[in-house]
Amino acid sequence: MSIQEGDRIPDITIKTNGPDGPKDISTGELFDRRRVVLFAVPGAFTPGCSNTHMPGFVIKADEILARGVDAIVCMAVNDAFVMDAWQKSQNAENITMLADGSGRLTEALGLTLDLTDGDMGKRCKRFAMIVNDGVVTYLGIDDKGVAASSAGTILDKL
Ligand code: BEZ
Repeated sequence: MSIQEGDRIPDITIKTNGPDGPKDISTGELFDRRRVVLFAVPGAFTPGCSNTHMPGFVIKADEILARGVDAIVCMAVNDAFVMDAWQKSQNAENITMLADGSGRLTEALGLTLDLTDGDMGKRCKRFAMIVNDGVVTYLGIDDKGVAASSAGTILDKL
């Protein structure tokens, strides 16, 4: 069972990138008393994520932030060094990168994507959510394409 609209984001500590490299961040620090857009991808540097999903958020970041969003956060089951390199390659400085390297937050959200048959292990489904003070108010999950989880859809929902 995955997290639903109306549910609270679970309390988990994972990694983001700071000026001195990877650092711990709790979901409380990220989501409490803020309005946050979180989108997640099956893998940094994969074609769909690099060519479509992430660029949409980079292009529309200012529009999203102008609608009262405090932060746009991108998560993948990758380590913080990979997420840092992907952020730089995408010119995504205005997006906070979350490295859920061991898949703890992904699993707690019930949004694991099993890509073992493709030799990619357990990853995260492609999704986007709007989170108000720790509570999910929109959740769009995509099995194919980005219709429910694109930056454009998020703009429509804000
Ligand atoms: C992608 O291109 O987005 C992708 C590639 C392999 C597995 C999952 C996603």
